[in-house]
Amino acid sequence: MSNTIAIDPLRTLGRLERNVFGGFAEHLGRCIYGGLYDPNSPHADASGLRTDVLDALKRLNMPVMRYPGGNFVSGYRWRDGVGPKAERPARTELAWHDVEPNTFGTNEFVDFCRRLGTEPYLVVNAGDGDMREARDWLEYCNGTQDTALVKLRRAHGYEAPHGVRYWGIGNEVDGPWQIGYKTPEEYARTYTEFAKVMKWTDPSVKLVASGISAWDASAVERVKLLMEHAAAHIDYLAIHWYVGNDAQRGYRDDDFASYMALSERIEDMLVATEGVLRAMSRALRLGREVAIAVDEWNVWYRTGNEEKLEEVYNLEDALMTGIQLNALIRHARSVKMANLAQVVNVIAPILTRPDGLVLQSIFYPFELYSRFARGVALDVYWAGDTFSTPEHTGLRVLDVAATLDESAKELAVFVVNRSLEAREATLSLGTRASGAKAFVVNGPDIKATNTFEAPDRVGVRETGLEVDGDTLTYTFEPHSVTVLSVALEP
Ligand code: AHR
Repeated sequence: MSNTIAIDPLRTLGRLERNVFGGFAEHLGRCIYGGLYDPNSPHADASGLRTDVLDALKRLNMPVMRYPGGNFVSGYRWRDGVGPKAERPARTELAWHDVEPNTFGTNEFVDFCRRLGTEPYLVVNAGDGDMREARDWLEYCNGTQDTALVKLRRAHGYEAPHGVRYWGIGNEVDGPWQIGYKTPEEYARTYTEFAKVMKWTDPSVKLVASGISAWDASAVERVKLLMEHAAAHIDYLAIHWYVGNDAQRGYRDDDFASYMALSERIEDMLVATEGVLRAMSRALRLGREVAIAVDEWNVWYRTGNEEKLEEVYNLEDALMTGIQLNALIRHARSVKMANLAQVVNVIAPILTRPDGLVLQSIFYPFELYSRFARGVALDVYWAGDTFSTPEHTGLRVLDVAATLDESAKELAVFVVNRSLEAREATLSLGTRASGAKAFVVNGPDIKATNTFEAPDRVGVRETGLEVDGDTLTYTFEPHSVTVLSVALEP
């Protein structure tokens, strides 16, 4: 059977926010210490930041970076991480059962963000922390008046305010694993009071409410109560997901087709969140949509705390990354931020040793999407070959999304071929094109990984393509993620 992909530039789904290509760095394992910050590495600069990690991260072009957790933040005291390093206390850390040295904190993180060209997004402790601590942190970072906290920041060497725009209130408060788990009612009250004082401290901030991560039966009630109590103070509602090729994070153990079918679960989570938010916005006559922030997403299923989440990714995980990014693009109308969890070593696209790093398979689709997804998301029609799993029938083999950058006259089509065979497709572009290029993420087989010994098993290849007016015929390689970058006629 043949495949058809039909694009109509007029069928737009909404502006794609660059912030959907955000990242997340947590005090966990070797993400901060030994990852992005490692004064002992030969790659470290004078401040201890690893320049090789910075260079690799720059390629991912992440506009926003969430920090410092994650579960970690629910026991974090921000004051421990500012001021002279010799005076900073080491603390028992209960989320990941570690000792936190606090030699990296708020100011080091903001410096890191400036070096990377990304915007900091801080999450306050709504686990064992209180709203006084939260608003003090905000004042320390953003304050401009001559208050004790602003003077403290200045004394720490930061005369100018950090101007941190994005602030999350709590992390995964719906999970019993969280320090300071909260019932829906408890969090709705907590969020309201934190949000009030934080907006009074700095009205310009954008606040992110911790929405759904456990995906249990209380999810609807949570969002409903949160909206009833605090809709006026919610700029983003956060949801989290992790997927994997096993029966716990997916449908079954090591089954490629079932793994690829997780697109349906992702779609369910997005549609469900959109539905309940829209119903509540309407019921409350809010007059605006509350945006969704998928502020943790990734493949994560092989490793736990013992391995400090140092997942080694293979090619099928790279396909899964493409599938998740396609979903974020198709839901551009509601998803206004997303954060790949995480950035270095811990479930990350980059793995380090003191003397170097390796780019994992999932690095490549993220890099390509972040580079080419621009402008508006398009409502693409596609049909053709299908596959089935015990849970689903008639799933399309190709998973497709597209964006159009009208000002640059560039169309980008993102296609994951979820089969072990090549698939030909005819793309009708809906407008005349002057040329195209294909960028293909692939490797020898779906289990191929990049390691320090063999760092290039999975990578990207670029080829030029012939376009026939407004039509392109292309054969998608087996088990591949392809980005077609099409130059449109002016
Ligand atoms: O990203 C790893 C962990 O996953 C985060 O700390 C937590 O928020 C989630 O459960």
